[in-house]
Amino acid sequence: MADTNTLKFGNHDYPVMSGSVGPQVVDIRKLYNETGMFTYDPGFTSTASCESALTYIDGDEGILLHRGYPIGQLAEQSSFMEVSYLLLNGELPSKGELDEFTHTITRHTMLHEQLATFYRGFRRDAHPMAIMCGVVGALSAFYHDSTDINDPHQRMIASHRLIAKMPTIAAMAYKYSVGQPFLYPDNSLSYTGNFLRMTFGVPAEPYEVNPIVERALDRIFILHADHEQNASTSTVRLAGSSGANPFACIAAGIACLWGPAHGGANEAALNMLREIGTPDRIPEFIARAKDKNDPFRLMGFGHRVYKNYDPRATVMQQTVREVFDALKVSDPVFEVALQLEHMALNDPYFVEKKLFPNVDFYSGVILSAIGFPTTMFTALFALARTVGWVAQWNEMISDPAQKIGRPRQLYTGPTQRDYTAIGQR
Ligand code: SDX
Repeated sequence: MADTNTLKFGNHDYPVMSGSVGPQVVDIRKLYNETGMFTYDPGFTSTASCESALTYIDGDEGILLHRGYPIGQLAEQSSFMEVSYLLLNGELPSKGELDEFTHTITRHTMLHEQLATFYRGFRRDAHPMAIMCGVVGALSAFYHDSTDINDPHQRMIASHRLIAKMPTIAAMAYKYSVGQPFLYPDNSLSYTGNFLRMTFGVPAEPYEVNPIVERALDRIFILHADHEQNASTSTVRLAGSSGANPFACIAAGIACLWGPAHGGANEAALNMLREIGTPDRIPEFIARAKDKNDPFRLMGFGHRVYKNYDPRATVMQQTVREVFDALKVSDPVFEVALQLEHMALNDPYFVEKKLFPNVDFYSGVILSAIGFPTTMFTALFALARTVGWVAQWNEMISDPAQKIGRPRQLYTGPTQRDYTAIGQR
């Protein structure tokens, strides 16, 4: 929505646009044609790449809304299937709408039988994210009837297939790594219960879904569902802007999420907490994190947008307490995490740089208590984030203003020069 005020640059006025909430933007689409200059913003710290109605983050206040609903309320009162419907459709569903949506997703959880052979091509110790990149990218070879991105019906089928099949693909990656047989989906179970059974069940005996674990994991999926224009979502949008099929776009998002600065941080954070081991070693690691000459960073700490507590980390910490109390388990690494947080948040370095725990700081503690190996943590993040990726992808395709993404650069290489024969060099 263009405002009356504008930003003057040289002889030109650039319109200032306002959203429903949050920072205004300066529309600079004509800047290069009118001034011959580009903006310069590596890492896009001050750049809005698109218009979106899905998720709003106020980093200073630690606010996260999905279609206007606060993450704390959704985590407490909703379910991952309901939040998935909300992200895809814009409104909370009626009971009938939710039942129909859940039924649709449930009946898409099976994989084409030949995809099981893909797993046998990997080493048993392949990282699950390597398998997820490969298998999800290959889905387009099996589901040709939902790759026409200009057909809204095909886009929705592809979206449902991706949301439904990610748990099956992730569970199969885990089963393959431990040498156990794959389990087919069980349509009588919930989305999250089905994933738990495919992961931890065996054909030799019935698997009883623990409702406390099911609820905790479903809440963890809600916390990871979407997060504005983060690196992997921006990757999905950029891939989608070329007209690539949705399966290829989500595979690109998975690849980007894997990085330790992004979704890979949950695996790195628990490994870090385990390496610290006991509270008396915390000062040593805090000193390393502050040392400019040491590349070490506190994993699960800091965020490009949040300069306050990540509201997801708050819910995650509460969920650790609930799961540990309910399952009557404990893990000394939780105490290390709590004390590390306390010491960091009282250290001027972290206070001045506004570095707080993010969604990845506590998630590994719960996932480990449930029984997942650390190598599965980012695969679980990808499983949950798939609904955000497909919702953002659908929003981009439907946006009349969307064009192929093609950033420019500040060129600092050699100016034109003539080739010289090798004998003259
Ligand atoms: C996710 O974008 C999203 O929304 C992502 C996500 C989502 O849901 O999609 O929220 C998920 O990726 C969460 C972030 C997970 N990553 C980590 O926990 C890895 C550790 N954190 C960092 O690497 C870092 O904080 C980032 C990558 C998350 C953010 O980096 P920025 O915004 O580019 O900030 P920066 O690297 O410029 O750091 C600013 C300053 C630097 O010091 P100076 O050079 O200014 O002196 O803070 C320091 C950094 O050295 N700093 C840290 C730190 N994070 C930043 N110092 C120690 N430990 C850290 N964790």
